[in-house]
Amino acid sequence: MEIAPETLNVESTYKLLTGCVVPRPIAWVTTLSDDGRINAAPFSAFTFVSTKPPMVGISIGKKVGVMKDTPRNMLARKEFTVNIGDLGLLDQLHLSAQEYPVDVSEVEELDIEVLPAQRIKTPRIAKAPVALECILNQVVSFGERTSFYVGEIVNFHIRDGLLKNGKIETMELNPVCRLGGPNYATLGEIITKKAIFVSSKDEG
Ligand SMILES: Cc1cc2nc3c(=O)[nH]c(=O)nc-3n(C[C@H](O)[C@H](O)[C@H](O)COP(=O)(O)O)c2cc1C
Repeated sequence: MEIAPETLNVESTYKLLTGCVVPRPIAWVTTLSDDGRINAAPFSAFTFVSTKPPMVGISIGKKVGVMKDTPRNMLARKEFTVNIGDLGLLDQLHLSAQEYPVDVSEVEELDIEVLPAQRIKTPRIAKAPVALECILNQVVSFGERTSFYVGEIVNFHIRDGLLKNGKIETMELNPVCRLGGPNYATLGEIITKKAIFVSSKDEG
């Protein structure tokens, strides 16, 4: 079948896109509000965008025309931390997507343990195996509802023992990813092919 995008409303478009673009990694983003409360929310429109310097990007939509807490805090503080959750953190990660009032911290509400970051003020989630401390680099708006927030990573926090010969042990990381709707997946079989890229130079 063929679907012309102009025949779809926003909700159907969202459903279609989030079913097509799977699986998606999840940035579990911590930010600080004006009064120092720690906000946490998951975002799966997430990727890395640059290696030199290292940068990641997250696409964030508006909630009925209103900016979400995460982008508001990012714009005000010019920094954020991307935590990568593993399977053990899935319940807290999922629940942190609920709409809490601005003055409620998901971290306090859901008992999410945090630790100070090294190079920015926004704490990281203590049990997350990976945390990327980011300085907001740029924001690009797309269409009526969405902006893409790019952060430069100024510190990589990697749980001790997870990095071997410069590579993250993916099975030990045990990441969760998002599918369509309230569905998640863990790693399935890993299929290893003959390396084609001679070095990271080929991959920008
Ligand atoms: C796993 C998961 C992934 C999500 N990914 C995104 C996303 O990429 N972009 C987005 O705008 N909202 C996404 N959401 C919805 C936000 O997490 C949700 O709107 C949240 O309430 C925002 O919180 P905040 O207002 O504290 O920033 C996602 C929700 C879940 C559960």
